[in-house]
Amino acid sequence: MFFDRPESGELAILVHLDIYEERGTSDPREFEELSLSAGADPVAMLTGSRSAPSAKYFVGVGKLDELKALVKEHEAELVAFNHTLTPSQERNLEAQLKCRVLDRTTLILDIFAQRARTHEGKLQVELAQLQHMSTRLIRGWTHLERQKGGIGMRGPGETQLETDRRLLRERIKTIKAKLEKVRRQRDQGRRSRTRAEIPVVSLVGYTNAGKSTLFNAVTDAEVYAEDQLFATLDPTMRRVEIPDVGAVVLADTVGFISRLPHKLVEAFRATLEEAANADLLLHTIDAADAERLRNIDEVQKVLSEIGASDIPQLLVYNKIDLLSDMAPRLDRDGDGKPVAVWLSAHQKAGMALLQQAIRELVGEQMCQGMLVLPSYMGSVRARFHQANAVLSEKYREDGCCELNVRLPEADFNRILAAETLDPDRVGWVSSPP
Ligand code: GTP
Repeated sequence: MFFDRPESGELAILVHLDIYEERGTSDPREFEELSLSAGADPVAMLTGSRSAPSAKYFVGVGKLDELKALVKEHEAELVAFNHTLTPSQERNLEAQLKCRVLDRTTLILDIFAQRARTHEGKLQVELAQLQHMSTRLIRGWTHLERQKGGIGMRGPGETQLETDRRLLRERIKTIKAKLEKVRRQRDQGRRSRTRAEIPVVSLVGYTNAGKSTLFNAVTDAEVYAEDQLFATLDPTMRRVEIPDVGAVVLADTVGFISRLPHKLVEAFRATLEEAANADLLLHTIDAADAERLRNIDEVQKVLSEIGASDIPQLLVYNKIDLLSDMAPRLDRDGDGKPVAVWLSAHQKAGMALLQQAIRELVGEQMCQGMLVLPSYMGSVRARFHQANAVLSEKYREDGCCELNVRLPEADFNRILAAETLDPDRVGWVSSPP
């Protein structure tokens, strides 16, 4: 029943129950993919349904017996639940099954731990792992061999867990302080970008939608793209030139997933904030995925959680090469505004349409041009400077100031309104594109 197996993964039994109380339970196939991404070798999946989880083992006693038999039959080293387990359920299950048991959060955290590449990404994962583990410290850690490593064991050393909570708390504090420092540095980078008025376009989307591939196709960069969940964990940024818009910063972000544990959303807030600070979101969708509507919803939910739901969004339906008879296309709304682009990042088909849509959506909001201000309009000049909108300026012999400005159209109108200026009295030497 199972897919290509990695050579040396840990033999794992997966458990997925349809729980009546748990609405929006994720797809068991996605859980298989998650386990593969974590490096497990899933040998069987136990499914079933219950109205509510059992307090002691999550599953009922009948299922527990089935699970024991499966573990024995396959000599499994690991049982992974597509659910959140309480620490005592984990402990009880491990005692019964005589092998390691982990839940969905631990599995996702482990994938994150394997994927994080930047300093900040690693710190974020470690913090989330420590916080998740600190709730589980009451358990006895000695009844299983915890030194071997493996899924759910990477990251913060087990030795810390075996020693005491004080060490754990101190470590959490240190990491938080380090993260704070890294974030401050990143904020500075962000501020200098804002000053330079470079629009930021962030790629967001469900995991495996093809964001990194699209990022590479647009920037010709070599970002790690793989058929694995969460191949991208740290925001990757590149400056790209879009014809008629100029430079924009394109940011690749972590893939979203349904039921991403809330704690993780919190832990990755900083990474996702890159998305929340964007001028435009390219919401990348795997057009060939049967679950694409559900995935779109999940992404919208996370976007609203991080306060990014008001940012203009362009839907990018990727992988159209997998659909029959589908040519690249740009969809517009009733006002002619681009709303969706259908393309194939892999085959670089439809890239010109994407650029066109970005140009219209980003270009539309920015206005740039040369203004000529008579000397008595010093306060207007000051306002453009305050808005960091001045690219260059020059005084002419007649005393007028030539101001090369670039700023969001809304800000431009605000400045005019604040100065009770009639737009006709401001002379554009070259009008905005
Ligand atoms: P996360 O990092 O998990 O968020 O993934 P991602 O959204 O960055 O996806 P990624 O670019 O890593 O691509 C996922 C898989 O889809 C890879 O195997 C890509 O080769 C494949 N893929 C991306 N774009 C296309 C496409 O246009 N057509 C086809 N057929 N496959 C694609």
